[in-house]
Amino acid sequence: MQIRSFEEYKNAYELSIKEPENFWAKIAENFVWRKKWDKVLDWNFTEPKINWFINGKLNITENCIDRHLPAKANDIAFYFEENEIGRPVKKITYQELHDEVCKLANVLRSFGVTKGDRVCIYLPMIPEAVYSLLACARIGAVHSVVFGGFSAQSIRDRINDSSCKVVLTSDGAYRGNKQIPMKATVDEALKDCPSVEKVLVFKRTGEKVNMQSNRDLEWDIEINKQRSECEPEIMDSEDPLFILYTSGSTGKPKGVVHSCGGYMVYCCYSFINVFQYEPEQIYWCTADVGWITGHSYITYGPLLAGASSVIFEGIPSYPDAGRFWNIVDKLKVNIFYTAPTAIRSLEAAGLDFVKPYNLSSLKVLGSVGEPINEEAWQWYHKNIGKEKCPIVDTWWQTETGGILISPLANITKTKPSFATLPLPGVQPVLVDDKGKLIEGNGVEGNLCIKFPWPSIIRTTYGDHERCRQTYFATYHNLYFTGDGCKRDEEGYYRITGRVDDVINVSGHRIGTAEVESAINEHADVVESAVVGYPHDIKGQGIYAYCIVPKTTKSQDELRKEILNCVNKIIGPIARPDKIQIVSGLPKTRSGKIMRRILRKVAEGETKNLGDVSTLLDPLVVEEIVKGRL
Ligand code: WT7
Repeated sequence: MQIRSFEEYKNAYELSIKEPENFWAKIAENFVWRKKWDKVLDWNFTEPKINWFINGKLNITENCIDRHLPAKANDIAFYFEENEIGRPVKKITYQELHDEVCKLANVLRSFGVTKGDRVCIYLPMIPEAVYSLLACARIGAVHSVVFGGFSAQSIRDRINDSSCKVVLTSDGAYRGNKQIPMKATVDEALKDCPSVEKVLVFKRTGEKVNMQSNRDLEWDIEINKQRSECEPEIMDSEDPLFILYTSGSTGKPKGVVHSCGGYMVYCCYSFINVFQYEPEQIYWCTADVGWITGHSYITYGPLLAGASSVIFEGIPSYPDAGRFWNIVDKLKVNIFYTAPTAIRSLEAAGLDFVKPYNLSSLKVLGSVGEPINEEAWQWYHKNIGKEKCPIVDTWWQTETGGILISPLANITKTKPSFATLPLPGVQPVLVDDKGKLIEGNGVEGNLCIKFPWPSIIRTTYGDHERCRQTYFATYHNLYFTGDGCKRDEEGYYRITGRVDDVINVSGHRIGTAEVESAINEHADVVESAVVGYPHDIKGQGIYAYCIVPKTTKSQDELRKEILNCVNKIIGPIARPDKIQIVSGLPKTRSGKIMRRILRKVAEGETKNLGDVSTLLDPLVVEEIVKGRL
């Protein structure tokens, strides 16, 4: 499965295009299947219908855990580093992982959860979060993880969209010097979630929580009733494995659905090849399990590869900006995978936080979630990698399930801010706005993929048409990523950012329409428009223009209330950085907001705003420019 040289990469790539079915069949043979597939692939992008490893039967947890036990029962699956510095690291062996996952799976079964039922997971970054994903997968329940930074209302919407039967949560969470309520937020969400029958509550902070009788149960008590063996549910390749909600340019977040077989194969293959993971190495991905990175490259990928990895509960700035490097030295981390926003904020904190650490264990560095600017790339390369570690800039999405464009560590020649080349099996193309293929090198366009890879999105939960509309209808017969992209003279890919109304704030994907509708919930706001603007640390910041015609409140008061609104409806991650109160928005005669102008003003441009002749009221622009923040 592992590519060892650029030559091998080129051969693998070529084979994967010429004979995709043979190529993937060979890789899939490395896994435990209870029944082999009849046919490798059946697909069309018009419905879309994408089936991989048809009629294959498996359980992903058997591949993540059980099959490693004969050789690796006492090897470490996870090192758990707590939020507080100076605590002994907790080691979890593959055997212990097996036992914990089985017990939790048995608890879920005792709640009446069966194959196909949905389970919502709202937990901090603790081992129990990973156990939860695996326990669901063990019994064929479909997990839906909601990131801890989302509000009660966001949890409620997600639970109701997929009618979750059970919620797994904790009393509270530690995050830097803060203690964050979790159970209280879930309680608020559950005021209107008729499908939820049971809530299992892990005790992390020991804070007092409300326990509703017949519904809420204590984690430890339930776990201790269970056996540490649990027969895995045998799943079809195309049975859903999980749902993960993500934002787009319109409407509410959609539930991206991934299925068992293809996701398993691609997750493991991409993990091993991108990071060039070697047995005994220690790997650390700093993501949260609430995002796809935490699913594919904290949970499934590393475990499928039998790796040892780090779970970190805290944040990079606590107790100070040296925390990541402290952990790298403490645990002798070999492969370190993080987001550009973290790199930029640690760079801004200064080298004094790096100097005390020697970082000599590091062999490979990774980046994910947003474009990495050249300066951050160089800083990471020089000060963390000591100019000896390749940086793998991995481009992918919730919908792709795994990394699609990335260097293979020590194999692909890297280039700052380039994700470089597609992995075997991935066929990127660039198209212009009309969908015309842009061929050759030294070009730029909209990034699409023209052939399915095993972990491609299968549907959006409960609404297949939306999946078709969003990803497969923009350009005929292509999967559209929503990203703009350059292909340079060498054929290297550089992702330039979203071309739709999605913004990327600190690596978090946020739909501007969603933020607008949250802002509009404020009684005094009649209309709003939200755009992204370049932000030194976050990549993009959120800039909101709000029309508030009649109010007795001061601007400061209004801003505070608008922030509270967003906090309450979406969560703290979507709070605007800047709120400008305006008397009107630049609209065309047909009533369409000209976001192009708003983006320019938010970027700090005051003069070259482009053609404003189609505007209903050009004076509005003058006012906006004058009042810009
Ligand atoms: C969007 C997907 C991939 C897991 C985390 C985010 C942007 C992601 C890169 C990269 C440039 C990147 C894209 C993409 N993105 N990785 N290496 N270089 N941009 O997953 O929340 O689904 O967001 O993140 O714009 O479309 P996501």
